Amino acid sequence: MSRTFYHCPHCQQVHTRLIDHGMPMTCCGEETHVLIKNNDAADSKMHRANIKKIGNFVTIEVGDDHPMMEIHHIQYLFLETNQGFQFKDVSQLPKAKADFILAKGEDILNVHVFCNIHLLWSLS
Ligand SMILES: [Fe+2]
Repeated sequence: MSRTFYHCPHCQQVHTRLIDHGMPMTCCGEETHVLIKNNDAADSKMHRANIKKIGNFVTIEVGDDHPMMEIHHIQYLFLETNQGFQFKDVSQLPKAKADFILAKGEDILNVHVFCNIHLLWSLS
């Protein structure tokens, strides 16, 4: 099962749960919305995460087709594994690219890309 993300329509923050006790996720005084993975085929190529894995070193990169300007950029690259998750803020970088290191026995389950305009893109 893939990680669930929540979005606040007021402040645009994205949340996820570390531990799920079944309570509603709230932000800005209201319940947040479950963030649905974007499936728009027209935009899928420019938000696609390219993954390179050599040993326990992982590089995730979104192609040059996606702008990295203040008005439209990739905010976070989120690596979900069988042991948890790691994420990198790439919003201030000229390229949406980040390196990750996996622990022994840690395997990639999913990669999530957050765009400030198009929101969530996930591999699966
Ligand atoms: Fe985008």
